Amino acid sequence: MPARSALVLHGPNLNLLGTREPAVYGRTTLPEVDRLIREHGRRRGIRVECRQSNVEGELIGWLQAAARDGFVGVVLNPGALTHYSIALRDAVAAITVPVVEVHLSNIHGREEFRRHSVIAGVARGQIAGFGPQSYLLALDALLAAGHPRGRARVNQRGRAGV
Ligand code: DQA
Repeated sequence: MPARSALVLHGPNLNLLGTREPAVYGRTTLPEVDRLIREHGRRRGIRVECRQSNVEGELIGWLQAAARDGFVGVVLNPGALTHYSIALRDAVAAITVPVVEVHLSNIHGREEFRRHSVIAGVARGQIAGFGPQSYLLALDALLAAGHPRGRARVNQRGRAGV
């Protein structure tokens, strides 16, 4: 069993994948997405635990506990919380484990209100637009980025810093 574990968090409405707006999100269900992520993790030698919640506070609780629970990093699809949840942003900013923001769709090519992420500025990075593959790329990014968060991090002005 791999020694390292990563946490994948899916936010509101992602439990409906497969039937929810398939033209945007595809027909792959959440259990299938999770299986693909876990298999990818296995190939990379890391155990992956996947959780979904429609409740903002539950996602925040999982983020706060991530280090204590032994996860080396988090892949987070905040769903619609991406665009307005300062509480979720503050949770990402507060924790020491790196967080990679992920989206199935390319939020930058969609409605105006989806083009801004309040999470992006405190995440290690963002991957969007590749369907379920986005999660696999995010996992690879997490592993490549290393730990702890802050090392070789580049801020919004392009300067290296913590
Ligand atoms: C999403 C994009 C969000 O704008 C939307 O609210 C979602 C899914 C995505 O994965 O593309 O729920 O995060």
